[in-house]
Amino acid sequence: MPPLVLQERISARKSDFEPLLQMDDLLRELIAAGGPMPTEYALLNRTLRQLGDAVRAKVIARDDVMAYAHDITSRYLDGTMQSRALGKKHGYSGDFEIIEAIYTLQTAQEPHLRRWDLYFHSQAAPNAVRNRKAYFHQLLNSHSAGRPKAPLNVLNVASGPARDVREWVLDNPEREVFFDCVDAEIHAIEHAKKLCAPFAKRVEFYHRNVLRFIPAKGYELVWSAGLFDYLTDRTFVYLLKALMTVTKRGGEVVVGNFSDFNPSRDYMELLGDWVLHHRTRDHLRELALEAGAAADSIEIQWEPEEVNLFLHVRR
Ligand SMILES: C[S@@+](CC[C@H](N)C(=O)[O-])C[C@H]1O[C@@H](n2cnc3c(N)ncnc32)[C@H](O)[C@@H]1O
Repeated sequence: MPPLVLQERISARKSDFEPLLQMDDLLRELIAAGGPMPTEYALLNRTLRQLGDAVRAKVIARDDVMAYAHDITSRYLDGTMQSRALGKKHGYSGDFEIIEAIYTLQTAQEPHLRRWDLYFHSQAAPNAVRNRKAYFHQLLNSHSAGRPKAPLNVLNVASGPARDVREWVLDNPEREVFFDCVDAEIHAIEHAKKLCAPFAKRVEFYHRNVLRFIPAKGYELVWSAGLFDYLTDRTFVYLLKALMTVTKRGGEVVVGNFSDFNPSRDYMELLGDWVLHHRTRDHLRELALEAGAAADSIEIQWEPEEVNLFLHVRR
């Protein structure tokens, strides 16, 4: 049964709430069976899609779905990735701990919870997050290969756990690359500092809000993933403009943003309260133009899931 606060509304408009009741039936069935098996993922996704359609059509209020999601998650799925996203320990769903858990494929130890985490990690969005780490690595490869003699300076905006930095430097100890990492969350900075301790001389950390502070150096590569899709268009343009000014001639700014093609969107929004500004390629291009980028300096790329787009602006 959905939580008490909802039951009265549901009994008055039972047919409207049908997609939520179906979701509830399915989740309870799967919970009783010890979590979803891979063969059940398609049914779960379809049921989520129907619920998403009802919310988009305003037949069911998003707040009602959120009340439901919090209730069922806290009662049966405490400790799962889903409950961690909903819990917003550091203020929002995609905090550095969740991102780190996605990179390292963390799953609950308890078998009945573990299956839910395997379902979480199997989805397109977490895959896209892992793929964007590989995308950053490829960028670092190509930028540093183009400068065999000169050091490469990289600004990593909203660096989170900095696992991407750690992995690349450990794999490429001979490359002269220096990172400035900015993050507004002190726990993210502390965690990232530990991960990057073996090569601390190559990485500088700034515990700052990038909307108020950007290190005033020049960079060949400015990278930001997992930040711009939380920003409104206005703030997007403001920050992109600021990042373009610290990018050296010949360098580039690369900004990740979830695309409007995100098969995990209903799961993220309805069971994780993880809401992003999904943007199309054209929209990203328009925002770059608004920030003052020349039309021929803009390029849009993507990772294999096509969920994470990457706006490149060449300077
Ligand atoms: C989704 S995580 C992405 C982390 C990292 N870029 C990655 O992809 O692995 C977003 C990070 O942005 C940071 N953040 C959010 N708003 C910020 C701001 N205004 N200034 C600096 N960091 C910010 C958060 O603290 C968090 O660590």
